[in-house]
Amino acid sequence: MITILNFSQRAEGINDRICAELLAGFTARGIHPRYIKARDLTIGFCNNCRSCMQAAGDELGECHLPDDMKGLLESILKSRCLIVSAPINCYDLPALLRVILERMSVFCHWPDDNYSPAVRKMPNEIKGVLITTSALPGIMVPLLTRARKSFRLFARPLRVTKIDYYHLGFKGRKADMIYAENDRRIVGKIIASLA
Ligand SMILES: Cc1cc2nc3c(=O)[nH]c(=O)nc-3n(C[C@H](O)[C@H](O)[C@H](O)COP(=O)(O)O)c2cc1C
Repeated sequence: MITILNFSQRAEGINDRICAELLAGFTARGIHPRYIKARDLTIGFCNNCRSCMQAAGDELGECHLPDDMKGLLESILKSRCLIVSAPINCYDLPALLRVILERMSVFCHWPDDNYSPAVRKMPNEIKGVLITTSALPGIMVPLLTRARKSFRLFARPLRVTKIDYYHLGFKGRKADMIYAENDRRIVGKIIASLA
């Protein structure tokens, strides 16, 4: 299964368009990805209770917060590929990714008397794709933002490896919020590489 995770808070923005084009392209090849808009999920803040980190072993820890986090992780872990599409906000990936990252404490075993956590090992490797959209030219995103670093932090416990990065820049003005020829080419390349 391929999971597409859209981190834009804006309905019908450029990330929604990119994800719609990815879905259409995969569907045309008989592949039916799971499409998740992070903005539709209920994800609470980690309250640092650390109860999810107490049990040893590679099973994910149990979080008592009753929201969509567990379902999201289960969905990603069942995938052979995770595609994340996200705007660059304030020189990083959106804040919701940080909220999710903190909730990924379930991937760690950190007993109260240890200095630091050990990361649980997930059974399957997952291929990763990060697509960003930004006002900055795409080429500047690895240089001026923390996007790749934040994505790797999110990817590592999930065992998302072999990450491909696509940075779609010049999306700062309303007039630029179009699905341009270069975007079409990149979406086509992603589909061809994963289909
Ligand atoms: C609060 C906010 C912060 C932003 N910060 C940046 C930034 O640091 N660098 C950048 O290149 N673009 C920045 N942008 C522009 C967004 O990346 C751009 O609007 C987004 O990629 C459009 O995606 P969407 O249509 O899916 O919302 C910012 C936009 C907003 C609303």
